[in-house]
Amino acid sequence: MTVFEDIEAWRRERQRLPDGHTLGVVPTMGALHEGHRALIERSSAENTRTLVTVFVNPAQFDDPEDLAAYPRTWDADRALLEAAGVDYVLIPPAEQVYRDGYRYRVIARQAAATLEGAHRPGHFDGVLTVVLKLLLLAGARRAYFGEKDWEQLELVRGMADAFFLPTTIVPCPTVRESSGLALSSRNGRLTP
Ligand code: PAF
Repeated sequence: MTVFEDIEAWRRERQRLPDGHTLGVVPTMGALHEGHRALIERSSAENTRTLVTVFVNPAQFDDPEDLAAYPRTWDADRALLEAAGVDYVLIPPAEQVYRDGYRYRVIARQAAATLEGAHRPGHFDGVLTVVLKLLLLAGARRAYFGEKDWEQLELVRGMADAFFLPTTIVPCPTVRESSGLALSSRNGRLTP
């Protein structure tokens, strides 16, 4: 598993990927769990190489306290990624991802004004902007998203279609605890 902390280093590696290989990408914000592992396994089954991106995206947090409290578990994440047989990991710094200072962004407008979007102003603009950047950086044949984040999945699919992105968006079933609760990086912050 090769870990890239620098976007340009990853782009050079991406250009070296020989013809005949297919790349799958799994975008994440880290704090990985079995739901992420299922996305990785699906990618590994359908592609010859898998890239996982780990980036806690500041642009999708409407509340600075929520951003500060978001779990960051890189050592455990790295172990899970290695055990899952991931080929590449991109864990870029925010200054590189947002070298434009978030001047240029995707705005979902009314499409993001319902459900979660109604309660988190700007959240889906941040999600779509970073997903567009990550998909362009990955240059992957397929990208894997959980159905758990259903509104996100629909908006990402809509964006990929609207901008003629060459990456196929692959929806993956929700993975649940035995209680039925959907696995989520944020579950550790719930009380029983
Ligand atoms: O679902 C997530 O973890 C994030 O919203 C995503 C898609 C990685 C974008 O930051």
